Amino acid sequence: MSRTLWIGDDRLPHTIDQTVLPFERRELVLGSLHDCEAAIRDMRVRGAPLIGAVGAYGLALAVRADPGDAALRQAYERLLAARPTAVNLRWALDRVVRRVAPAAPEARASLAWDEAGLICDEDVACNAKIGEHGARLLHALADQRSALAGVAGADSIALNLLTHCNAGRVATIDHGTALAPVYRLHDEGVPVHVWIDETRPRNQGAALTAWELGERGIAHTVIADNAGGLLMMQGRVDAVIVGCDRVAANGDVANKIGTYLKALAARDNGIPFYVACPISSIDANAPDGAAIRIEERDAREVSHVSGRLDDGTLASVRVAAPGSACANPAFDITPARLVTVLITERGVCDASADGLRGVLQEPPR
Ligand code: MRU
Repeated sequence: MSRTLWIGDDRLPHTIDQTVLPFERRELVLGSLHDCEAAIRDMRVRGAPLIGAVGAYGLALAVRADPGDAALRQAYERLLAARPTAVNLRWALDRVVRRVAPAAPEARASLAWDEAGLICDEDVACNAKIGEHGARLLHALADQRSALAGVAGADSIALNLLTHCNAGRVATIDHGTALAPVYRLHDEGVPVHVWIDETRPRNQGAALTAWELGERGIAHTVIADNAGGLLMMQGRVDAVIVGCDRVAANGDVANKIGTYLKALAARDNGIPFYVACPISSIDANAPDGAAIRIEERDAREVSHVSGRLDDGTLASVRVAAPGSACANPAFDITPARLVTVLITERGVCDASADGLRGVLQEPPR
């Protein structure tokens, strides 16, 4: 399966415009710092790890155009401001700066380019590991489920998961984070079914997660964002699994708006709530969730919905009453106490200061 970000014959980064998926596959060439900045800001690329990788290439392209210190600093600030919540962006930009800053200007372009490539390659390996560790947890749940189904004589032994937003292949370079264990389980022949929150206002669940799972032949059902609580109460969800944009030092998790409500419902119904969290999403400088800046996006994303009309054209239509004010906080904070475990590339850990310290010290396995 191809990567979400790749280098074309023109030696430029290429990606897919996610604002028109799943209706159109439109390739996007990222030819400059400006292209990368705009793609992140306008969410043509999105998902914390992919934002980081595109940011790294943005900086590499800026250095190619002007390797001087002032240009490097300015490019860093512009890219960092493109989206504020996912810490992977800062993490990736810092990596590139650390690599190029000590070098002579004439050596910088190739060093920055190498580092961006490395970030992409490491992301693929990291997510494969998250898939491996997460699949171990899900296997245990699947075994319990088939034992219970055997006792009850039920027809369906599929493991029922619920996910929010898109933490899949297109949110990363490959595999995804929250979806990596799902792909792995499916590849191993374990029957799995995923409830997908549509994820208003931008509907990344209905558009992207459903498309991804459909392409891989994984059973799934798109639900309205408010349906999850009832399904959990009815025993139709075995676990919730989501990605994250930033994890604070105490284990609080920032993820797509609506995640917190799913965590509350999961806790109330005794259902595990798993967060897939690459090490690059841990922000040791944020003591807790209150320190994480929540992105406030254009109110039009709430007042309108985008999609495809029956005649095939892409359109945006108003759903809110004309004249009503709309607000659009794009992420929320799930307190650490509601998170069963974090699934990292270095293994599973508690969402706590001690748990995070443990994985941060642990060498990759
Ligand atoms: O606003 P988005 O679409 O960038 O939000 C994405 C999410 O909230 C994902 O869950 C998160 O970035 C993890 S992606 C592996």
